[in-house]
Amino acid sequence: AMGKEDVVREELGILHGIPLYKSFIEGWPQVKAFQARPDDLLISTYPKSGTTWLSEILDMIYHDGDVEKCRRDAIYNRVPFMELRAPGMPSGLELLEKTPSPRLVKTHLPVQLLPTSFWDKDCKIIYVARNPKDVVISYYYFYQMAKTHPDPGTLGEFLENFMAGKVAYGSWYEHVQGWWKKKQEKRILYLFYEDMKKEPRQEVQKILQFLGKEMAEETVARILHHTSFQEMKKNPAANYETVPTELMDHNLSPFLRKGITGDWKNHFTVAQNERFDQHYQEHMAGSDLHFQMEV
Ligand code: A3P
Repeated sequence: AMGKEDVVREELGILHGIPLYKSFIEGWPQVKAFQARPDDLLISTYPKSGTTWLSEILDMIYHDGDVEKCRRDAIYNRVPFMELRAPGMPSGLELLEKTPSPRLVKTHLPVQLLPTSFWDKDCKIIYVARNPKDVVISYYYFYQMAKTHPDPGTLGEFLENFMAGKVAYGSWYEHVQGWWKKKQEKRILYLFYEDMKKEPRQEVQKILQFLGKEMAEETVARILHHTSFQEMKKNPAANYETVPTELMDHNLSPFLRKGITGDWKNHFTVAQNERFDQHYQEHMAGSDLHFQMEV
């Protein structure tokens, strides 16, 4: 097993064309062979798109809005990250083996790399997408605080890498579009971070409908309160502060950082924004997938 002292910023490896942490690539054969269960619910996202938020909402739904039950463990143990392998932490697969059904499973894999058993078992999947300008800023801070990443360099350099798909999990454009297309043939609820910010109640209702679950108004209200940014930020079971500092340094940037739409405006220069817009238009041309960059 790896020790915590092994954490050093190192370059990403490449898995089937997708840049990824080397430790994850080492564990790939087991992940690929993962046996999903029919009642597993998969939470799928490109990194920094609202994974933790959706995870907390779903754990609350699964526990009928019982706040205390949802404090039983840290979010990364309640909703195991399937492909995770990190020093000083149990792997995603180890956690999943111990998790009783019905399980919530987190992944960031692009659609073409999802273990096939999820399709064979026809598992329900919820995907959240977030506009790429906020994703890239959130990712930039995350690269700084999570020491498993290579040095992100300047924001200008990071923007270029992001646009070129040279960041962990590869191209945002291919990720969001790949899962969007899959929705035509599979049971996928495709949500947007920006909608969750604007109309959280409506988005939770969509989730409940997708799950075929009825819930009292007051329970929904409790879930909305408990999963607000302010509540999650101060909740040690949701804010990742329990991860060893060698892996995540919240002094550099907290995991729950700002939780807003449009923070990119505080970071992009005018020139960077123009370049990003042009690149975005080229890569999203002809797609019926649309993003709100601000609210
Ligand atoms: P910022 O860095 O923009 O603040 P993920 O969980 O996929 O890694 O995404 C992390 C991003 O989601 C961070 O964005 C984080 O603050 C935001 N986030 C987490 N919980 C949230 C909540 N309850 N409401 C709004 N945003 C939230």
